[in-house]
Amino acid sequence: MEQQQLNEQSLQSCGAQQKLRQLCVDRAHGKPLQYIMGTEYFGDLEIACEPGVLIPRQETAASVTFLIERLLRGKKSQRLPSHLRILDLCTGTGCIPLLAHYELDQRRKHGQSPQTLEVVGVDISSQALKLANRNLHRLVGAGYFCPNPSLHFLQADILASNSDAELNHLPSLDRALHHCESTTSNPCNKRPWDILISNPPYISPQAFNNTTQRSVKRYEPRLALVPPLLAKDNSKIDQGDIFYPRLLEIAQQVKAKIVLFEVADLEQAQRVALMAKAQGIWDGVEIWRDYPGQNDHDAEIGRDVVLRDVKVLGTGNGRSVFAYRGDARDWLCTS
Ligand SMILES: C[S@@+](CC[C@H](N)C(=O)[O-])C[C@H]1O[C@@H](n2cnc3c(N)ncnc32)[C@H](O)[C@@H]1O
Repeated sequence: MEQQQLNEQSLQSCGAQQKLRQLCVDRAHGKPLQYIMGTEYFGDLEIACEPGVLIPRQETAASVTFLIERLLRGKKSQRLPSHLRILDLCTGTGCIPLLAHYELDQRRKHGQSPQTLEVVGVDISSQALKLANRNLHRLVGAGYFCPNPSLHFLQADILASNSDAELNHLPSLDRALHHCESTTSNPCNKRPWDILISNPPYISPQAFNNTTQRSVKRYEPRLALVPPLLAKDNSKIDQGDIFYPRLLEIAQQVKAKIVLFEVADLEQAQRVALMAKAQGIWDGVEIWRDYPGQNDHDAEIGRDVVLRDVKVLGTGNGRSVFAYRGDARDWLCTS
């Protein structure tokens, strides 16, 4: 009997050793630690990660946190609508809507922030959506959210028109939001969305081949990194920028008062800021660096004539473009 137990123990430890060895080999080949360990922190939240879905980045979390801080700084939260609606396009693990909801909830406990919240994350990938829902359920189970938070994940191809979507067997954004409205008690599409956030695929095929880190190229999904080639030849637009005109169009359609779009670097940030300005609907456009809360009094002014009134906030690389209009001037106390 003792001998049998010893044999089992040594088999188990042999199995564990083999597994450990394989994990070390994977790591030595450049497999990201987050795929090996299965999680990554995003703000205060531990987010489950798996190969096939982009690993959340700290710089993305910094932008989301800065956005919430800007909305709630001082007494500004009293100016926010009593029901705030946030739409996150290209949601991946769901990290952005989860963190935005969590941080607003935390402030709500201290009497800040809107009375009710409604947050929706959208992605084309069913694997990403499954993981986003798993993250939501895990965090509800761990007590980070109340049992039935108003946070939902939907599948849609945000680049597709309604007719394209029928061909591709994937709903367009419009259809997905309408469907959500008719099948849940959540009126997803009835009122405007106050805030539109997106971290879309933004790396051009050339940059992907020439400058993207090997471990990212090898282990993270291309779908999350590189926009598709457009069927119509639109040679005026940089291949990495394909999502932004569509995101700005959606912002106008859903009457968003604030947009926050992640970008690759300062050059892309300037191109996207120009697109936003050309839309002619925004009262203010800003570029945020990786850590926008640091040195934000040191805002630089763009050198380009059109970008002269675009503030560049924070330290690090150009990371996102932020634009606001209408009521949001009050929410941000800029008027
Ligand atoms: C850069 S990742 C961002 C993931 C997550 N928001 C984050 O910050 O970690 C881009 C995401 O866009 C999704 N995506 C790619 N093409 C899409 C499309 N046409 N419509 C909707 N989502 C798309 C990918 O599946 C991927 O999850």
